[in-house]
Amino acid sequence: EKGTYPHFMLKEIDEQPFVMRKIIQEYQDENDDIKLEEDVRQAMAACDRVYIIAAGTSYHAGLIGKEFLEKIAQVPTEVHIASEFSYNMPLLSEKPLFVFISQSGETADLRSVLVETKQLGHPALTMTNVPGSTLSRESDYTLHLHAGPEIAVASTKAYTAQMAVLAILAVDTARAKGLTLEFDPLKELGIVGNAMEALCDQKEEFDQIARDYLSTTRNCFFIGRGLDYFVGLEGALKLKEISYIQAEGFAGGELKHGTIALIEDGTPVIALATQEHVDGSIRSNVQEVVARGANACVISPEHLTREGDAFSIPTVHPLLAPLVSVLPMQLISYYAALHRDCDVDKPRNLAKSVTVE
Ligand code: F6R
Repeated sequence: EKGTYPHFMLKEIDEQPFVMRKIIQEYQDENDDIKLEEDVRQAMAACDRVYIIAAGTSYHAGLIGKEFLEKIAQVPTEVHIASEFSYNMPLLSEKPLFVFISQSGETADLRSVLVETKQLGHPALTMTNVPGSTLSRESDYTLHLHAGPEIAVASTKAYTAQMAVLAILAVDTARAKGLTLEFDPLKELGIVGNAMEALCDQKEEFDQIARDYLSTTRNCFFIGRGLDYFVGLEGALKLKEISYIQAEGFAGGELKHGTIALIEDGTPVIALATQEHVDGSIRSNVQEVVARGANACVISPEHLTREGDAFSIPTVHPLLAPLVSVLPMQLISYYAALHRDCDVDKPRNLAKSVTVE
């Protein structure tokens, strides 16, 4: 099934451009408009707040989803770690809509929230890669991710698919509310697919970055602001789960509140700088860590690239930048794990679907 690929993870990273095209195809009607089931549309229109519930990588997609729903559709949105929500339920709004994001559709932590919120009478929408899964069957509505089977334990193409479907949902909701947007998500996702393809063709460069920054290190930090911070969290999770390098993602502005104490001579710091409105601030955070000896690896889109940046990614719509900037994170983690002789597809202590609480 891996074909000529040495690992499922690499194959699944490479499939992302096709997944984007598949999603565009599945969510487009004959007039090139968004195709979505009417009852999903109505559920979005009827709620006063969205509660996204997820775990791990899917939680990281949820953090980006909140930005989409609030910035594009003006729908107040909260994102919760499923295992926390069950034991510590926040005050709910009058008309909540629960959105469960799960690649497998089988994660027990999410299911327990679903059972609880259904008992309270609240509607549930599941976004999953497995439409016949438990969460999908037990929810009122399902949005299919269309990523194809994901075998590697480390989630890659499901994450970008989740963000793509969240963007489509946000734009559709905005249109239904009569908000005018300059943003055609299907067209923009096509541009994203092309950008992903360009990155997949530059694997040797990520192999080299992994050698230069990560081959012997004990730890690694990811910094960013706004959307880049959330992608940094995902970058850190990818790196730690498959390479066993201790990795953490931080908001650039938080460094000075404690974390900067961890920076030593040679500490790798991967900085994402895709958002123009915070470019100056993240650049000064990079200066701060470099001044303390960090080995900084700045990844920026073409239109914001400066001399000394480690890698330049194609420019896409700034809200969709996470779908592109995560590919370097995935590929750098993959090669770091490979250089350290780790079992890329089956990292220790982890299972593909977590069916216990
Ligand atoms: C990380 C990873 C996990 C899952 C998490 C949720 O690469 O795969 O963090 O994202 O266990 O799984 P799903 O999305 O199946 O609910």
